[in-house]
Amino acid sequence: MRPILLNPGPVSLSEGVREAVARLDLCHREPEYFDLQDAVIKGLLDVYDCDPLAWSAVLIGGSGTTALEAMMASLLPADAHVLVLENGVYGERLTRIAGIHGIRNRALKVGWGDAIDLQALEDLLATGDYSHVVAVHHETTTGRLNPVEEIAALCTQFKARLLLDAVSSFGAEAIPFGQKSLQAIAATANKCLHGIPGLAMVLCRKPALQQAIEPRTLSLHLPLWAEQQAKRSTPFTPPVNGLLALAQALKELEKQGGWKSRRMHYRKLAARVADTCRQLGVAEWLPASDSSCVLRSYHLPAGLTYNQLHDGLKQHGFVIYAGQGKLASQLFRISTMGEISDYDMARLEQALRLVVAGVEK
Ligand SMILES: Cc1ncc(COP(=O)(O)O)c(C=O)c1O
Repeated sequence: MRPILLNPGPVSLSEGVREAVARLDLCHREPEYFDLQDAVIKGLLDVYDCDPLAWSAVLIGGSGTTALEAMMASLLPADAHVLVLENGVYGERLTRIAGIHGIRNRALKVGWGDAIDLQALEDLLATGDYSHVVAVHHETTTGRLNPVEEIAALCTQFKARLLLDAVSSFGAEAIPFGQKSLQAIAATANKCLHGIPGLAMVLCRKPALQQAIEPRTLSLHLPLWAEQQAKRSTPFTPPVNGLLALAQALKELEKQGGWKSRRMHYRKLAARVADTCRQLGVAEWLPASDSSCVLRSYHLPAGLTYNQLHDGLKQHGFVIYAGQGKLASQLFRISTMGEISDYDMARLEQALRLVVAGVEK
């Protein structure tokens, strides 16, 4: 039996997506490929009803970090002064990317898992010193869902531009596309969209792409990808099979009722896991109301190391995820993205009981 992936991406694939990955061999310089590319671009814009006259979905080969680096390197002008909101590994990564590309930045930090300090954000934006804010939507380090609607509203109020890491939220959480401040979001195919790794994307407001920014890199320069994709071309070899998979995954998302239905579905699965954990005395690390629908963090059960828990669950066919860095000895994470059936959930509940409490019920 295939393992069920409860790590935060890559996810367990549906049969339809699995079949689509290898459905045909495609040359990326043929019209059939460009039909596929156009369909994926349209499908991505349709997920949140983004107006194709106002927004471009730019596809790029690589992981979520590739999308983030492309977004920041391509859309932040040389004179940008960027405020980075940090409350976990991925916020810290944004600061790192800014530093590598010589982008002037300051981090507004709170502890990993703590809430972003909106008052401090407002005070800093009110100084008028910051042209841009860069933030993580769902901080996968802990499962905390950051308040992007409020962040975007503050940015709009103080005329700062917002770039968002939506790598682990795009397709399942609300994104404030209606806020003028929101300039771009970075995402990837292999999380809430249920595609395969290797394909990333940045949805950009068109004027953000049209700024005359000197390229900081060649292969990550989004205007180059966007310009070629708009002309039914591609600057470099794209992850063709990733597009085949995502085209199918986007069809399935639409058929299942779109991102709001997916959020409801994920919430139900997360609540089932949390209930079972609670019955076993395993406490959630963050309250459910602060957590995303995608992933929840739990304290390690008394008397079990992460490795014992991980290996025990893996023997039953489930792959869970460790805490990162300084949280590795404190917590474990369970994500319920991907193709997970009712039967899988029942088996997971039973496996948790067996591994955590040694009881079969
Ligand atoms: C919020 C967030 N940002 C960025 C990344 C980095 O993505 P990747 O590992 O695909 O580069 C992840 C990965 O889990 C993530 O959850």
